[in-house]
Amino acid sequence: MPPSETSKQLESVLHETRVFPPPPDFVARARMRAEDHARLTAEAARDNVGYWAARAREELHWFKPFTRVLDDSKAPNYRWFTDGELNASYNCIDVHLAQRGNKTAIVFESEPGDVRRLTYAELAAEVGRFANGLKALGVAPGDRVVIYMPMVPEAVVAIQACARIGATHSVVFGGFSAKSLRDRIEDAAARVVITADGGRRAGKLVDLKGATDEALAEGCGSIARVVVMKHAGNDVRMKAGRDAWWSDVVKGQSTECVPLPVPSEHPLFLLYTSGSTGKPKGIQHSTGGYLLHAKLTAQWIFDLRDDDVFWCTADVGWVTGHSYVAYGPLAAGATIVMYEGAPVHPDAGRFWSICQRHGVTIFYTAPTAIRALMKFGDEIPAQYDLSKIRLLGTVGEPINPEAWIWYHEVIGRKRCPIVDTWWQTETGAAMISPIPGAIPAKPGSCTKPIPGIDAAIVDEEGDEVTDPNRGGSLVIRKPWPSMLRTIWGDNQRYIDTYWARYGNRYYVAGDTAHRDADGYFWVMGRSDDVLKVSGHRLGTMEVESAFVAHPRVAEAAVVGRSHDIKGEAIFAYVVLRGARPTGTEAERLAVELRDFVGKELGAIAKPDDIRFADNLPKTRSGKIMRRLLRNIARGEEITADVSTLENPAILDQLRGKA
Ligand code: WTA
Repeated sequence: MPPSETSKQLESVLHETRVFPPPPDFVARARMRAEDHARLTAEAARDNVGYWAARAREELHWFKPFTRVLDDSKAPNYRWFTDGELNASYNCIDVHLAQRGNKTAIVFESEPGDVRRLTYAELAAEVGRFANGLKALGVAPGDRVVIYMPMVPEAVVAIQACARIGATHSVVFGGFSAKSLRDRIEDAAARVVITADGGRRAGKLVDLKGATDEALAEGCGSIARVVVMKHAGNDVRMKAGRDAWWSDVVKGQSTECVPLPVPSEHPLFLLYTSGSTGKPKGIQHSTGGYLLHAKLTAQWIFDLRDDDVFWCTADVGWVTGHSYVAYGPLAAGATIVMYEGAPVHPDAGRFWSICQRHGVTIFYTAPTAIRALMKFGDEIPAQYDLSKIRLLGTVGEPINPEAWIWYHEVIGRKRCPIVDTWWQTETGAAMISPIPGAIPAKPGSCTKPIPGIDAAIVDEEGDEVTDPNRGGSLVIRKPWPSMLRTIWGDNQRYIDTYWARYGNRYYVAGDTAHRDADGYFWVMGRSDDVLKVSGHRLGTMEVESAFVAHPRVAEAAVVGRSHDIKGEAIFAYVVLRGARPTGTEAERLAVELRDFVGKELGAIAKPDDIRFADNLPKTRSGKIMRRLLRNIARGEEITADVSTLENPAILDQLRGKA
């Protein structure tokens, strides 16, 4: 991010001086207090590798204990606990059966309002049957299985079943388009797709099977079978020999499926995410390291106790839904809530109504949802009994102090700590976050790294920035167990993207941040071409490629502009083949292109603004002047050097004035 943009944001957060210490009654019962935090941090500082080994032995059940902890012989491809063997599903389910078999694992609510509950014993049986069903379909350890499902318990069952038999899952968010699904299936060379007839969102049907058929209509030669769960009841076409109903797959199968011990480094999952270039990256996670951190952070950051009801609102299609729905809280033996539907359906009280009816005690969501619900006013949450909530969390993008304070006062009724958790698809689990009974919060800051994580801010040369008035690049200086292992099929890209910048010394997060005099981190946003639109991660190049797939588009440039609910919104500059449209023709085309991009990528990628120009501003070397485009999209003063512009008159067009 150019310095002018960062410093403006810096100025605003530097004025934030409010501090919220953990409430004494919370501390009294907290799993981790300030002294525990200090002790663990000191332990990790003395011997980071030994610290992680101790945690891995305490937290996970190993079928074969590891003797080697960190293998850095192929750095930056770090490997952890390499000679150990375990099973993620065993660690999330079986370990609880003796003591918590009858405890509710999942409370599910559909958008129309049906409620279903599964105990740990029932979850074990569902996972066992489906795992056996997958085996019967020929799924073998190491096979990639794509999961394209609505937010229903079966999505978690499918994830856990894959883990149980050593298949590597790749969940594709149900809001992604057929084309996005196809790209991900092909990149992973997946063997099976698990989907549903349809999903439900905002009163509408999401035609998942239709999209799957469309994806598989071209290419996707690796796919042998498609499993379809009946859920929304819409009509679907079943292709003989390829498609099977979920109910038929599990028919006659035993509920017992012996969990397969896999080496710790066995790829538990791939999750595709956006980067600076067009093609999404298959982020590859390991079994042992990933699960360790998912479980530890679920326990530490969410302070999970046996009587908690934990609701993370993220869809399983995103990393947050992996770590804090499908794995972390289950590994911790918690009760989780899953909701399939929109936050404002049928009205803006839906989230609070779910919290009240299911007695949610810990609520974790994205700042964009908080801002959206805040707009509806304080009267709506005031109608609900939120007295059971004791802890609140946020994730996915920076939270503005105003939304933080609203969350604290109106939802938390000033009683509940807030954990602002910074992390990424690549980091596997939360990295910088308050531990609620230990670390005082500051609105807008994700505070301090969790014990064992060595985060820092560095300048262009890689030297640590200690001046609280300066920003820099956020890096992690020591390997950690849940780090991504590679980019599926492209290890060079892994090295180039995350390590090359500082000679393989640090993991480069791609965020700009600064650290205040108390050592608190304030993350400003991405320093690359990644956007966070309503907390969803999108690459500008992906959106640009979607635009140019339209026959009328010659060229497109996409930037982010700030948006008071979405955080960031997509602003596109488009050059058409032929004359630049104006007036109603421009409006009509903008609508057409907006829908086209939505169809290509998924509704979340629809641009908010489209502006037509005769050409795009480029430097002499032909590079698009993105900074200029950002300035204009954000209504800022132009800080870019425009003296080299080939056609300065273009500025008025870009501003929408000509
Ligand atoms: C941003 C989501 C500020 C950041 C778990 C990061 C945040 C990107 C926060 C990763 C936070 C996530 N404060 N920014 N608490 N959490 N981010 O892969 O820019 O979807 O690099 O993972 O989200 O997005 P991803």
